[in-house]
Amino acid sequence: MARLAVNVDHVATVRQARGIDEPDPVIAAGIAELAGAEGIICHLREDRRHVQDRDLRLLRQTIKTKLNLEMAAVEEMIEIARDVKPDLVTLVPERREELTTEGGLDVKAKPEYYKDVVSRIKEKGIMVSFFIDPDAEQISLAKGAGADIVEIHTGHYSEARNEKEAEERFERIVKAAESAHELGLKISAGHGLNYVNIKRFRTLPLVEEYSIGHSIVARSIYVGFERAVKDMVELVKDF
Ligand code: PXP
Repeated sequence: MARLAVNVDHVATVRQARGIDEPDPVIAAGIAELAGAEGIICHLREDRRHVQDRDLRLLRQTIKTKLNLEMAAVEEMIEIARDVKPDLVTLVPERREELTTEGGLDVKAKPEYYKDVVSRIKEKGIMVSFFIDPDAEQISLAKGAGADIVEIHTGHYSEARNEKEAEERFERIVKAAESAHELGLKISAGHGLNYVNIKRFRTLPLVEEYSIGHSIVARSIYVGFERAVKDMVELVKDF
């Protein structure tokens, strides 16, 4: 019985392409909840290329499930998180020139820094998740830094070009999930998941929640946002 959390960044991407006020990610979030999503995610990037501060604040006031703020572990975002108080913060690496989040957090590079960031966020009663490559060492360091949850980066798996590659990359995710579970961490997964490649996760009940954005927004153009969310809710609820 896995849960779906819907990332509404790309609703904001369409809005920003015109620089006007629609489509509104806040309305999309409400529809996603009505369609069965159990969480809403937005990534407030330093360059504000899609989600805006106003979206985050309105989402905090309006959504009824769980708000997950994805952000870089930098001073500006830490202050915003402490002020807005989402239910959950997911720390992600961020590079201005990237199209989307490219890799997991390198906790190994700055373990003490992440420990301090986590304690400042948790001080406000916010849970913390680390977006991590399927790598046992990084997962163990995430636990050491105080993470409650690890979101396993599925981007590499999603980009597999054939069955063999997909199976090998999925096996790394399975091993990573097992090591996170042994450490007592809660487990999410996301990035690049769609209605087809997610089916392999049926065999991995350790993943409690999926964070999905692009494939849902893409499908919504054909079938509508509510139906696109419902289709994904239906898939993951059997996992
Ligand atoms: N999880 C994290 C940490 C992400 O950065 C993203 C992309 O914003 C997602 C999940 C969702 O990825 P996608 O849009 O490919 O479903």
